[in-house]
Amino acid sequence: MNEDILRLGQANPQILQFSDLHLSSNEELMGINCDESFAAVKALASQYHNVDLTLITGDISQDHSEASYQKCCEVFRYQQHPVAWITGNHDEVAMQNDVLSVGAITPVKRILFKHWQLLLLNSQIPGKICGAISDEELEQIKQAAIDYPKHHIMLVLHHHPIPMNSEWIDNHCLTNRDELWDAVNEAGNVKGMMFGHVHQMVDEVKDGVRVLGCPSTSVQFTPNQDEFSVDDAQPGFRYLELLANGTIKTKVHRVADNKFIATFDPAGY
Ligand SMILES: [Fe+2]
Repeated sequence: MNEDILRLGQANPQILQFSDLHLSSNEELMGINCDESFAAVKALASQYHNVDLTLITGDISQDHSEASYQKCCEVFRYQQHPVAWITGNHDEVAMQNDVLSVGAITPVKRILFKHWQLLLLNSQIPGKICGAISDEELEQIKQAAIDYPKHHIMLVLHHHPIPMNSEWIDNHCLTNRDELWDAVNEAGNVKGMMFGHVHQMVDEVKDGVRVLGCPSTSVQFTPNQDEFSVDDAQPGFRYLELLANGTIKTKVHRVADNKFIATFDPAGY
């Protein structure tokens, strides 16, 4: 984890989450033009005028090309607030670090607000779709709670930390989920987890922790299906407000009018 801390002072920060952009140099993903769907989601998010932070929760690229990261860079580098990112199973960390550290975009992995600290984790296992949190990052979760015992903690990771009742995607989950939850329970003040990867909305509570999944800005996966299936739900983003008392106000927004309909491709993901 990058050792730097980005210190932001807001008491009730407003955050936007974009996830699983799957941008590429020139390809569609299962019939969806990911540039167009991302642009539509980004335009929808402009309804929020007092954003303090944007988080991009992995799978920025579909084809591992520098061009895909440049597209992301051009969209976010001129934002008026910081934009931080994590690595998904599809991403190239070295390229992310090279391209996504300019203007408003920061590679920092620890962000401090007045009452909250955010830890941005790397759950990628290179070359695999499933993920894991390293022992080092598990220790950092526990240490973060010691460093700032009065701060609420939000963990930000790509892979889902709870089962999705969906056999195919649960085969691509965090392989050391139990160790993550042990670290969370030992830390004691983790109040939320944000993730991507599952391309669908999730809002559950486990062990007192709000567990929040985000739609993709491109293709959606159908919830509660054991076989891979794409959903007609539209691309979207998540808005969050982290309150001083440790609770989270949040809402998912999706683009209107069923403009983006994916075509099922069993080899598509
Ligand atoms: Fe993805």
